[in-house]
Amino acid sequence: MTETIGGLASQGKEQLGDISDTPLLDSYLLIGEVLARPREWLIAHAEEAVCSVDQIRIQALFARRHIGEPVAYIRGFQSFWQRDFCVTRDTLIPRPDTELLMEITLARFDQQSIKVVDLGTGTGALAVSLAAERPGWQILGTDISKSTLAIAQKNAGTLANVNFLAGSWFTNIEGRFDLIISNPPYIRNTDPHLQALKFEPAGALNAGDDGLDCIRQIINNCHEHLVPGGHILLEHGYDQQEPVIQLLVNAGLTEVQGFRDLQGQPRAVIARSHDLER
Ligand SMILES: C[S@@+](CC[C@H](N)C(=O)[O-])C[C@H]1O[C@@H](n2cnc3c(N)ncnc32)[C@H](O)[C@@H]1O
Repeated sequence: MTETIGGLASQGKEQLGDISDTPLLDSYLLIGEVLARPREWLIAHAEEAVCSVDQIRIQALFARRHIGEPVAYIRGFQSFWQRDFCVTRDTLIPRPDTELLMEITLARFDQQSIKVVDLGTGTGALAVSLAAERPGWQILGTDISKSTLAIAQKNAGTLANVNFLAGSWFTNIEGRFDLIISNPPYIRNTDPHLQALKFEPAGALNAGDDGLDCIRQIINNCHEHLVPGGHILLEHGYDQQEPVIQLLVNAGLTEVQGFRDLQGQPRAVIARSHDLER
């Protein structure tokens, strides 16, 4: 049966309603993926017929989405800050929440030339976006996953001021940085939300019984990789700000400050190392 763009969008909305909070948007994005058209064009051409081959391809994408596969994996990219980032099943999908770290960094650091390390860089969302925003900065992105780093390298394109290194947190990292930034795994192993994230790599999400294993390791080892007076900026779960602040204070960091996201949730903390070596 011949189907129109609008008809397929309605079908998708109905089919995806139980899996997605945005079933109509998802439908348009998936239809757009097959027809290579933006959403605005699809809406304006709702009465246009879709050939049977494309109908089958669209319905196959609806079926993938229906079993929970995120739209970003189906399309192969996700927008973050000012760019589209290539994503694969090896990488976490960059979240809008993490743009809070971009906002804090760009607002606080206006020096022409600083050294930054992004620990657990994933697609390179933070490292690449900072490198593009601040051409004078030297950025290092690290990750434990080499396949993730291959995607980050691809996302960096021709940017000359960002490099990548494989290793667990500070292992393999030499030298000191003006800023350590990280959106590390911080979900408790028993968190029921993990089920909804089953398509994403567990190693990018899980962080022990209290969700703080990675944050603890980063904080406890940051001193020897910060210049005197250098900063550490971390994303964390909405209910983790108090324990993260406590970890920073216990590790001897100063000027600790928490930040909330646009929904008013506490989601990031910045702190500073002592001006003088301890
Ligand atoms: C929550 S994801 C964040 C990815 C990216 N920074 C972002 O914001 O989209 C955490 C990342 O930390 C990496 N990771 C997990 N354990 C690690 C470790 N021990 N050392 C370095 N990176 C690690 C994961 O592979 C993953 O890419």
